Amino acid sequence: MLLQNIKETRLYLKEQKRLGKSIGLVPTMGYLHEGHLSLIKKAKDENNIVVVTIFVNPIQFGPNDDFEKYPRDLKRDYNLALNAGADLIFNPSVEEMYPEKSKSFVVVQELTDNLCGLSRPGHFQGVTTVVSKLFNIIPADRAYFGLKDAQQVAVITQMVKDLNFDIEIVPCPIIREEDGLALSSRNVYLNSNERQSALLLSQSLCKAEELIKMGENNAEKIVDSIIASLERDSNCNIEYVKIVDFNTLKDLKILKNKFLIALAVKIGKTRLIDNIVMEVD
Ligand code: PAJ
Repeated sequence: MLLQNIKETRLYLKEQKRLGKSIGLVPTMGYLHEGHLSLIKKAKDENNIVVVTIFVNPIQFGPNDDFEKYPRDLKRDYNLALNAGADLIFNPSVEEMYPEKSKSFVVVQELTDNLCGLSRPGHFQGVTTVVSKLFNIIPADRAYFGLKDAQQVAVITQMVKDLNFDIEIVPCPIIREEDGLALSSRNVYLNSNERQSALLLSQSLCKAEELIKMGENNAEKIVDSIIASLERDSNCNIEYVKIVDFNTLKDLKILKNKFLIALAVKIGKTRLIDNIVMEVD
């Protein structure tokens, strides 16, 4: 079923809750790929009803970002989502979600100060605001988010805790192509030459993982080795390469406990992100 209206969606889901059904929510911006579908499948395994939202959220894009040209294909997404186990696709228009200029926003502090939050001011405020709106429209028991956007998972988990949303956040692993490229809706922007360069993201993270497994624990040395691999390719324009504590998202000097190695790189005009999570004693 496809619904594009908030009132109808609320009515339908209220009735499902009254019938005792559990609801899993998978928020997306559409142009679905196997990464999104893995979240939908997991949600289907763990809930009676799965709601997939498809909404390209204007307020999380900066003025020079790709909001206008972000890929959209509702018909294709609808079929893919249903086949993966979705029961309801909620696809509101921008006017439905933002009928007037909002005066209220949700802000998560500190966790948004580093990584993508540094290079995309306002981005996470747009994400947390729209996700709060979706949580208020859809009475979900669980919501599924990919660790491809590890900072987004951390920020939303904190928001749910701080604001007492009655919903469990379920982090899900990154789905990759066979050659290592993390699936992303933005991969369609890449030409074949850029697609080849994009492999360097996951490859440089794998090399870093090996260095760490061999005993290297100096974050700067590891970051430098990643930067060196990326800089060898003239298509790569590095936005950041960082190693941060998994819980605080603050930069680490010496690796300890659980940490995140995260990077954002522009390949031609396309901004891609990737990361790995590791743990040392
Ligand atoms: P979008 O980029 O469409 O991603 C929707 C969900 O799919 C996110 O939780 C994201 O982490 C997950 N995802 C994307 N690629 C993945 C991959 N390769 N493996 C596993 N999961 C993957 O993230 C957003 O949309 C938006 O910010 C949103 C949360 C919908 C708010 O507008």
